[in-house]
Amino acid sequence: MTLEKTLEDSAARLADAETYADPDRVNEIFTQLRLSGRIVRAEPEGMRPFWAVAKAADIRFIETNSNKFIAAPWPAMLMKDQEQKNIELFGSISGPSTTLVSMDGEIHHKHRLIAQEWFMPHNVRKLTSDIAAIAVTYIEKMAAMDGECDFAKNIAFWYPLRVVNSILGLPESVDADFLRLTQLSFGAADPNIEASIQDRLERFAQSHREFMTIFHPVIVERRANPTDDLASAYANATIDGDPLGIAETLGLFLITATAGHDTTSATTAGGLKALIEHPEQLVKLRENMELLPNAVEEFLRWVAPVKHFARTATEDIQIGGQTVSQGDRVVVFFASACRDEDVFDDPLDFRIDREPNKHLAFGTGPHLCLGMHLARLEIKIFFEQLLPRLESIELAGEASYLQANLVSGLTSLPVKYKFKGTDR
Ligand code: HEM
Repeated sequence: MTLEKTLEDSAARLADAETYADPDRVNEIFTQLRLSGRIVRAEPEGMRPFWAVAKAADIRFIETNSNKFIAAPWPAMLMKDQEQKNIELFGSISGPSTTLVSMDGEIHHKHRLIAQEWFMPHNVRKLTSDIAAIAVTYIEKMAAMDGECDFAKNIAFWYPLRVVNSILGLPESVDADFLRLTQLSFGAADPNIEASIQDRLERFAQSHREFMTIFHPVIVERRANPTDDLASAYANATIDGDPLGIAETLGLFLITATAGHDTTSATTAGGLKALIEHPEQLVKLRENMELLPNAVEEFLRWVAPVKHFARTATEDIQIGGQTVSQGDRVVVFFASACRDEDVFDDPLDFRIDREPNKHLAFGTGPHLCLGMHLARLEIKIFFEQLLPRLESIELAGEASYLQANLVSGLTSLPVKYKFKGTDR
């Protein structure tokens, strides 16, 4: 096989959800693409062709030239059958509701403004004690579990979910349903998720219908009785003085909820796994908890749970040694940028004191993650609360990962541990 064909096959494999069950394999593909020094054309079966972009500099170029590379109508890799189903069910390729990730230009900017202030660091910091209380609840659950648990399933899935649902005005009683629906939505291609529902496309559509049923009453309630929370800001949002339609309002709730929890869960679980696998880094952190903010950045770089987003070129343009034609799709792999040899010394080493750490786990440009300050705070608070209480922790079985090409992380992380001052 020629080198060209090998590269194309590897790039095409990145479209396949199954590839992400093995993160080492994914990282090997990223390294191979980066070392080729250019962007690579992929033609996966059942999907429109795209250019795979693996180098951080090329990703920054695409993301910051947002008039030349637009998000609509294809903000993420989708199978053609799923696009078709979305068109039939919702009238648009990208899915059920128009959300920030599939908007461009001024309309995108105006939608971001609705939430931007609320997510600024000085406002997010006001949530510190509420978030710490939620973290402590889950750490207590861990402490009560007889020194052994599945950290992903029992703890990490739930903690960020409760944080994001609480800011969206949802009671704890919806959390379990919510988790199932996100897994249906993001893990729609994973055969291990809800095996009883056979049809992948139906799973995706069904999850969105059910999400809407959960949010609708909150919108009605906050319109009648607004408070100063994010749910009220969304429910009563206006653009140019006109109230948002119900579909757009639901879109804001949906993107915040779905973007906000399993990304942070994956980073919390992946961060803990990396610390256990690099005991000298765990010791270093425990001896100097001032390093925690740096450690959080390294968890983000290491896990990079959002694997990609996609853009469409609006003109013929040269990038990464190739000419991309108007209308071509490009897929930017943030997780690859996080291990780029041109940006990081020894990118395959996990170092909690890495400085500088210019990772792209939150993307960049106009779509830069809106919730990044909240995510950083949540992860920091969790480890701030957990590490001083732990005497020891080790892996207790094989970890497994979600088969999904957009947001993917640990689905299982069995651990054994001892809390200080207990016999467990
Ligand atoms: C570790 C946790 C997280 C990671 C790694 C992450 C990563 C990302 C990435 C890569 C993007 C796309 C950026 C781009 O296209 O350049 C994004 C967008 C977004 N994220 Fe996050 N995210 C995380 C947590 C959160 C949280 C906690 C929230 C809110 C509660 C949130 C809300 C959003 C929203 C609303 C967008 C869409 C922004 C837009 O299109 O304008 N994220 N995130």
